[in-house]
Amino acid sequence: MAALTDSHHRYGFVTRVLHWGMALLFAAQLASAAAHALLPREHALRETLWSYHPTLGATLFVLVLLRGAWGLFNLPRRPPHSGTLGRAAVAGHAAIYALMVVVPGVRLLAAAGGTRGFDYLGFRIFAPRETEIAWMQAPAELHGEMGWILAVLIAGHVFMALVWHRLVQRDEVLGRMAG
Ligand code: HEM
Ligand code: HEM
Repeated sequence: MAALTDSHHRYGFVTRVLHWGMALLFAAQLASAAAHALLPREHALRETLWSYHPTLGATLFVLVLLRGAWGLFNLPRRPPHSGTLGRAAVAGHAAIYALMVVVPGVRLLAAAGGTRGFDYLGFRIFAPRETEIAWMQAPAELHGEMGWILAVLIAGHVFMALVWHRLVQRDEVLGRMAG
């Protein structure tokens, strides 16, 4: 069985499960966002996909915190990124991490300061307030825009992994997460 922790040559089992599991969940989350943006309000597919958006988004928020903590714990032994492209890759991963926290974070903050409250799988997380707290709502106005920026970064990330590293450079970068 693959090692649980990362090494200088490859990402370990836990990092891979988090990476590929969350990649699938992000695909579902962005599908629901796309349906929300593109389909008419009463469309059945839009309603179905939208029904899980807040719950899956909150799940991703918790998962990215766990993943970030695991990444920091493994930082001294992770595969290296050298040269200009390597530094750009690190910056790109950091931007993806930041948005993975901030995008659901601003919506959860708004729910915490809102009049509707927030339930997660039947558990009450935030009770409804009598009046909403304006400063807790304001950042959520950029939720959708930041979500689409995250989608563009993910598309660039997938392009770099599959086209640049796998097809053009033919190096070991995809293999250390997938091989
Ligand atoms: C990583 C997690 C998340 C991603 C990637 C994401 C992405 C998006 C995107 C791209 C949109 C824009 C859809 C459009 O253009 O019509 C959107 C809208 C929305 N999302 Fe999320 N979302 C996430 C988490 C959440 C969470 C946790 C909540 C609620 C607690 C939430 C509630 C909403 C709502 C109410 C809208 C419609 C209003 C608006 O655009 O702000 N989302 N989301
Ligand atoms: C087909 C889809 C995907 C492929 C082929 C892919 C490929 C890879 C590869 C090869 C690495 C290692 C890169 C390196 O060591 O420099 C990596 C790391 C990473 N990927 Fe992806 N990826 C995919 C989807 C995603 C998605 C959807 C996200 C975010 C929502 C994401 C976020 C990250 C992050 C943050 C890292 C840095 C390592 C970590 O902390 O997990 N990837 N990916």
